[in-house]
Amino acid sequence: MASRLPQAHGDLLYAAQAADLSALAAADRLRRLQPRRAIDLSSNDYLGLARSPRLAGAVRDALDRGVAVGAGGSRLLGGNDPEHEALEAEAARFFGTEAALFFSSGYAANVALLATLPQRGDIVVHDELVHASAHEGMRLSRAEVSSAAHNDAGSVDGLLGRWRAGGGTGRAWIAVESLYSMDGDRAPLTDLAEVAVRHDAILLVDEAHATGVWGLDGRGLAAGLDGRPDVITLRTCGKALGCEGALVCGPAIVRDMLVNRGRGFIFSTAPSPLMAAAVREAMRILTDEPDRRARLHALIAAAEAALAPLGVTATGTQILPLIVGDDARAMVLADRLQQAGFDVRGIRPPTVPAGTARLRLSITLNIGEPDIAALADALRTALA
Ligand SMILES: Cc1ncc(COP(=O)(O)O)c(C=O)c1O
Repeated sequence: MASRLPQAHGDLLYAAQAADLSALAAADRLRRLQPRRAIDLSSNDYLGLARSPRLAGAVRDALDRGVAVGAGGSRLLGGNDPEHEALEAEAARFFGTEAALFFSSGYAANVALLATLPQRGDIVVHDELVHASAHEGMRLSRAEVSSAAHNDAGSVDGLLGRWRAGGGTGRAWIAVESLYSMDGDRAPLTDLAEVAVRHDAILLVDEAHATGVWGLDGRGLAAGLDGRPDVITLRTCGKALGCEGALVCGPAIVRDMLVNRGRGFIFSTAPSPLMAAAVREAMRILTDEPDRRARLHALIAAAEAALAPLGVTATGTQILPLIVGDDARAMVLADRLQQAGFDVRGIRPPTVPAGTARLRLSITLNIGEPDIAALADALRTALA
């Protein structure tokens, strides 16, 4: 039986962590897990697929076919299931790329991409607002890293030009998102693709929030660039697709490189084969049920009409921020809306830049127009 140590000893063991958490609490930045509230305004389940009968049915069918719950190992050590391969073949066809590779999360995929592909002597120029997972990958990369102004292709162009003029001889990589998760704005992808061509660079586009919602059949905002050798896209499966995991889509050499050198791919248990079956069904739903996207787009228009007069930024996408500025005020507003039954979350630095704390309103098919009207009333009251 484990011997019990006095509490004081435990306090000492974790003194540094306790001090860190106290500092966060003193700055009113302590995060807490909260239960979901009734009316969904915070999830990324944009098309309402997470609980769809078709996805549940696909998992049930897979179980009936004898598909395993767990992969049982990494893809290179016995975990490579026919379901993974079937998904990757179908994803490559669907997105129009030479190859695709399935990861257990978008976070893991972004880390693997950025830590593995750019080499020593290369440069990665990234949008200043790219996701934490891209930063994590760049931190592990041997390439030089440089931050460009948000959604500014000219800034990317300038940084790359100065790097070459300064003697940079390696490959240039440009890392952006197509739709930014905290601002809801879209990247100037056509301009960025031109900059990539000018500098013989490779463009990495994280389509986490665009996949399923935008582009022909929900193929994303970068769909027009798919198939180009200088473009690699990341399609996460845990947001509009209602599942889990992520697909890296691009040239076959990218897949081969990640299979051979991507540590997060090599040294990690493969995703559940059941999840691979579910993602395949989700891609089919994107094609078979265009009505979901149409309904979501109509709901976004209704939300913008009701909420823009209250200060919410009309982004034209499913992510509508209300920039509050002050951290404490953002949390008070979120709390008031939560008390009224709306699952609205306050977002503070460091997730967003200092001075831009906000409410991130996420429009999904889990709600309807009456919920939007009720939210507008509650927000008006909360702001008063
Ligand atoms: C832009 C972006 N990239 C990557 C990720 C990570 O994806 P996942 O949730 O599948 O790990 C997220 C998640 O929030 C994201 O917003």
